Amino acid sequence: MNVLQVSAEIFPLIKTGGLADVAGALPAALNAAGCDTRVLLPGFAPIMTDLHGSTVLAELVAPWGEPFVVRLGRLASLNLMAYVIDLPLLYHRPGSPYEDIQHRPFADNYRRFALLGWVASRLAGGLDMHWQPHVVHSHDWHAALASAYMAFSPAQRVRVANVYTVHNLAYDGLFASRHFFELGLPSSAFSVDGLEFHSQMSFMKAGLFFSDHITTVSPTYALEIQTREQGYGMDGLLRLRANVLTGILNGVDETVWDPARDPAIIHPFDADKPAGKLRCKAELQHRLGLAVQNDAPLFGIVSRITEQKGLHLVLKVLDQLLARGGQLVMMGEGDLGMENAFRQRAAANPLTVSVHIGYDENFAHQIFAATDVTLVPSSFEPCGLTQMYGLKYGSLPLVHHVGGLADTVVDCSLEDLANKTANGFVFHRFDAQGLLRAVCRAFALYARQPDWLAVRAHAMKQPMGWDKAAAQYVDLYRKLCP
Ligand code: ADP
Ligand code: GLC
Repeated sequence: MNVLQVSAEIFPLIKTGGLADVAGALPAALNAAGCDTRVLLPGFAPIMTDLHGSTVLAELVAPWGEPFVVRLGRLASLNLMAYVIDLPLLYHRPGSPYEDIQHRPFADNYRRFALLGWVASRLAGGLDMHWQPHVVHSHDWHAALASAYMAFSPAQRVRVANVYTVHNLAYDGLFASRHFFELGLPSSAFSVDGLEFHSQMSFMKAGLFFSDHITTVSPTYALEIQTREQGYGMDGLLRLRANVLTGILNGVDETVWDPARDPAIIHPFDADKPAGKLRCKAELQHRLGLAVQNDAPLFGIVSRITEQKGLHLVLKVLDQLLARGGQLVMMGEGDLGMENAFRQRAAANPLTVSVHIGYDENFAHQIFAATDVTLVPSSFEPCGLTQMYGLKYGSLPLVHHVGGLADTVVDCSLEDLANKTANGFVFHRFDAQGLLRAVCRAFALYARQPDWLAVRAHAMKQPMGWDKAAAQYVDLYRKLCP
């Protein structure tokens, strides 16, 4: 089965969050499960540079009249065939894939990402005479218009299925309706039974409405987004389409995240030979100027700093965490006020708190390797990957009971300790008190080292690869195009 994955990000080339990790890992996992997978990507500079031996597949004109080229080549870093939209005017810009350096969304994002969906629909329609996708699988609002364009494409010899994955409903790709006519969709697409959303156009809604099947990145999140509280106004539509909505839990790319073979960490380790972890901890404490104290539980955070991630709760309980003898290392970037608040706490507690504002892939690996606990107190979390990296690296996740966090972390309650199913710490009440109680539970377990080590070994040994998710996607693809 030929599968075309469509996304705006792909690790290791372009990444703002977990979407890139998924897009980078899923193709190989699908191929291992018997698919022939290719990707379609916008031609951001790092993608163009990595694209080897490319040829021009087609010279096309966008619905708004802009000429461009689709290239086909092999991404060297992933050894993966890729279609790339070569249009530097749209994609070669300083900043992130979505925003300029002042964090302002690019004004023409509706064009930059509509084009991704439009080219996907052209590939579905046979643009490459040597490779016909049977499934177009698009990810998040950036690729969501694929579903709309495919729904309005003339019938083809081959029926191509369309799967749309929601990674985060909070980012919906909402644009002024006056741009609708530029997109080349029939006017009937702009209606309540289409991509119209409170008089604007929503790319997210296009994916949710027009796809053959919707998936999201954990079973619990698939239920949560059907509620008013977490539905962002789409819950009604999602309830209507509940029979074609599935939660498939993400995996961990074990070629990238494996403490036994991780080039970013100096002292490799695994569940059976964990000694290197202690050395990683001492090395990091030393390097960051923290007190080099093996018996101080070291808490870690690697996160975007946005409201979603619940980090304000960490600020509220930090004094108690330190008073109990803990330490904190955090890396993240985002909200300026919150960045400063964390910086101030580090300045006030140089021996126990270390804060790094910025983005550093290697340092993220080192934090998971060195810490005892990974904090993920998100208010909502579609899947969450950092708690899974924490599990793999023996840094027990401490999480709020939502979305994928609820699906992956089992609290150290007495019964789960006895059953050997516990792998971390979970709090239900989303407030400082709820978080603090879980932090206290972490200290209590840390004081019982044999129990701590048993839970940690269990966490590290849990199977978390992509094979399970890949099998579920392949099942779904087969149902959609037998
Ligand atoms: P989200 O996609 O909502 O940000 P995930 O947990 O799914 O959350 O994925 C976050 C990814 O981004 C992980 O790979 C994590 O290690 C990485 N990450 C987040 N912030 C940083 C940072 N400042 N430096 C390096 N990696 C980061
Ligand atoms: C989104 C979500 C995150 C998820 C990631 C990958 O960024 O916020 O929870 O893990 O996508 O699916």
